[in-house]
Amino acid sequence: MTVNRLMSQKVRELYEQFPYPLRDPQEEKDRLLMPPLDTLSRVNHYCFGGTKVIDASFRALVAGGGTGDAMIWLAEQLRDVGGSVTYLEPSEASTRVARARAEARGLENVTYVNATISEFAASKPDRFDYINCAGVLHHLEDPQEGLRDLASVLKPDGAMGVMVYGEHGRLAVTEWRKMIEPLLNNKDLSEQLAMTRKLLGNLPEDNMLLKMGGGPGFIRGLLENDPEIVDLLLHPVECAYDVHGVYDFAASADLHVAAFTGFFGFGGTGKAHYAIGNLVRDPALLRELSAMPLRDQQAFCERYSGAMPLHAFYLTRSDRAQAAEMLPDGDLAPYFFVKPTPSFFDDLVALAGQPVLIEDGSGNAVDLTGGPDLARLLAVFDGKNTVADLVRILRDDILDKQPIDMNSIAINTLGAVWALFHKFDWMLASRPEGWQKAESERQLTVRKQ
Ligand SMILES: C[S@@+](CC[C@H](N)C(=O)[O-])C[C@H]1O[C@@H](n2cnc3c(N)ncnc32)[C@H](O)[C@@H]1O
Repeated sequence: MTVNRLMSQKVRELYEQFPYPLRDPQEEKDRLLMPPLDTLSRVNHYCFGGTKVIDASFRALVAGGGTGDAMIWLAEQLRDVGGSVTYLEPSEASTRVARARAEARGLENVTYVNATISEFAASKPDRFDYINCAGVLHHLEDPQEGLRDLASVLKPDGAMGVMVYGEHGRLAVTEWRKMIEPLLNNKDLSEQLAMTRKLLGNLPEDNMLLKMGGGPGFIRGLLENDPEIVDLLLHPVECAYDVHGVYDFAASADLHVAAFTGFFGFGGTGKAHYAIGNLVRDPALLRELSAMPLRDQQAFCERYSGAMPLHAFYLTRSDRAQAAEMLPDGDLAPYFFVKPTPSFFDDLVALAGQPVLIEDGSGNAVDLTGGPDLARLLAVFDGKNTVADLVRILRDDILDKQPIDMNSIAINTLGAVWALFHKFDWMLASRPEGWQKAESERQLTVRKQ
């Protein structure tokens, strides 16, 4: 194996010169960044069927950890239970920033390894329960080899959270790179950056980059963030994947896509972008699309929405994709991962029988018309009642006025409630005493339509 195959020299130099993403350790005093991909409640739900015991034995690896976002969030979540994080990163400059951030937070459950993924895998470390690898594999000379190397250090029941570039949503960048390619020769990275800054500073208003980034604010932000410009527009080694490419990439390492999910700047619930029911309204077309295999449906969404510059997803060795979406098993307890506001249930009672919107404050909403007992039903989703308990409560206490056996109606009703509240990860499921930490960024409210 040549040195270039491990990591191209140009990529190495790039991240020594521009640690990514741009982070100031001083800011750790004021805020905690929580990359949604690595939120353990979500990892437990999608990758471990809600059954993972997250304790002192839990080992996480952050491969290509950059300036430390995922490492910090995982180490924060694991510090109280004694779990550990291994931060793997070849760039010393990036490691200095990541280490300073962890020190600023007093995190002591992190081990730092200065190596590439291949070098680390070759050292045959103890295996990991969860591996984060975000924004790294598409910069490798051989991404499949990188993924196989990561799989080789994953426990048999372990899982990975991966992010790679999205081919379709990133067309603006691909076009930009074609445009500047002839201008890059004979310029070092600093000169390339200076030239790119000039071009961005006077960008024609119809340029595709503006649309991809959601407007002029995106370009203003870029101009204050040289590492972002370099990473986005001047990277010497990169590739991108469409939905089918993601599935094929996973299969190349004998892994399955357990779920697509969210990423910074892409919402905490990126999975909703991949659900045709959220994009297509026409019932006949929806029926036709629903008959297609899941990956074809998701591939349709990618091109129809045009809004996926990246794909963030979980990988597991066994196929869990369907199970994570269905009503959980009888012994699991659904819980509100996004907490309702204190007045949520009272508001729901007051609005019973009327069309309402339930929202999470980040642009996600579902509309429904609840019956008089919807608030009572939702209130028993307390993370302690299992699905079997919920069926019994619904059948015997809430639907008990009905003159017929309500068991199957209770199950169907629960399934409908679950589908509604799981769509944007408002509810997840775990064992009753398992890992059920709610998200702190969103809150559920209800209002009249
Ligand atoms: C775009 S940054 C992503 C950083 C971080 N994962 C994040 O999401 O914020 C890519 C990182 O991968 C690292 N990297 C590149 N090639 C690598 C390799 N072969 N093995 C391990 N890390 C690598 C780079 O040094 C860089 O810090």
